[in-house]
Amino acid sequence: MQHEDRLSSRIPGFYRHPLAERRRLVEGAPSLSPSSREHLRAGGGLDLRKADLMTENVVSTHGLPLSVALNFRINQRDFLVPMAIEEPSVVAAASNAARLVRLAGGFEAEADDPIMTAQIHLAGVPAPAAAVARIEAHADALKRHADGAIPRMVARGGGCRDVGARVLSEAEGMLVVHLFVDVRDAMGANVVDEVAEAVAPHLVELVGGEVGLRILSNLPLRRLARARCWVSDDAVGGSHLADAIVRASRFAELDPFRAATHNKGIMNGVDAVAVATGQDWRALEAGAHAYAALSGSYQPLARWSRNGSGVLGEIEMPMAVGVVGGAAGAHPGCRAALELIGTSSAGELATVIVCAGLASNLAALKALAGEGIQRGHMKLHRRRQELIEEPAAAHGSGVSSGGTSFG
Ligand code: MEV
Repeated sequence: MQHEDRLSSRIPGFYRHPLAERRRLVEGAPSLSPSSREHLRAGGGLDLRKADLMTENVVSTHGLPLSVALNFRINQRDFLVPMAIEEPSVVAAASNAARLVRLAGGFEAEADDPIMTAQIHLAGVPAPAAAVARIEAHADALKRHADGAIPRMVARGGGCRDVGARVLSEAEGMLVVHLFVDVRDAMGANVVDEVAEAVAPHLVELVGGEVGLRILSNLPLRRLARARCWVSDDAVGGSHLADAIVRASRFAELDPFRAATHNKGIMNGVDAVAVATGQDWRALEAGAHAYAALSGSYQPLARWSRNGSGVLGEIEMPMAVGVVGGAAGAHPGCRAALELIGTSSAGELATVIVCAGLASNLAALKALAGEGIQRGHMKLHRRRQELIEEPAAAHGSGVSSGGTSFG
């Protein structure tokens, strides 16, 4: 069924179809190019020649299942959400939660402008406080130097937007300068590293001292994404369970041991889409956890509160993702995944990823607040266990199932 120019993400019974039929169904997405369609049909993967150009010392390639999470409706549009992940039940759980959210109209989500942060570290600066004032007074000239280093990004509408400086240690004359760079639809790491290296000598000229590190920050506080959703008591299984979800969220606010697991569940969804679409998921992980700890106590990235006859979920986190350059440009599977989402905007990709995180969190809390995670999820884990036991039986080594637990 089609909505606007897109495939509906609501495909009842999808999981019951054989794999080839599932693929046939998603091949109907109008945003898929013929080459991506062909790539999916051929079973995905990466040819060795491309692999050899991507990293060093390549000897083979490494595969993961590529799935689509269904039922996502975000800002009134349907999205197929590609996920590449080794953990059973993440895709099913996210699809299930998105179905509940969809009953009330779907997710609302937004992303900040794509502003990355370049850091230039200076040491041995005489009179650091005065140096900060001098840097800020010369912000326009510094922005011009920054833009001079990235003419192609400036031509695409990006460029340095702001400059800030902070004293780190008066005694050591140590300060850090932040350059805030709009990187448009790129993730932007290379762009901001370029800027940091180009601007550093001008800073030394301006305030003295020695240049230290020149690199992006993986805590891009000006590039956050956020999402909200509401689910009714009925959808989560009754008001008792809705209350339990809110209590579970409060537990994560009060206890960092729980918050770490709560956030791990969010990153199940975030990372699965990030891997499928070729994002630097380590950067997302670093940003997520630094953001969670920003207040000085490690906090949940998503929270749930009572709202009328249902619960409201809200998430906010840094989201440095891109749709041009990087693996997103070079890897045919990542390109196919981006085309399945049907977006050419880094901001829209950020909204899809943050919603995948919120859906994963809802699914986990709903299960944990109710019958617990083991019963439903163990069914899916058992399928994988069969896979492990198959070759083991063939070799007669007798690997026992052992009982894989969630997480
Ligand atoms: C397992 O991968 C993720 C969960 O532990 C998340 C959570 O406890 O919220 C189920």
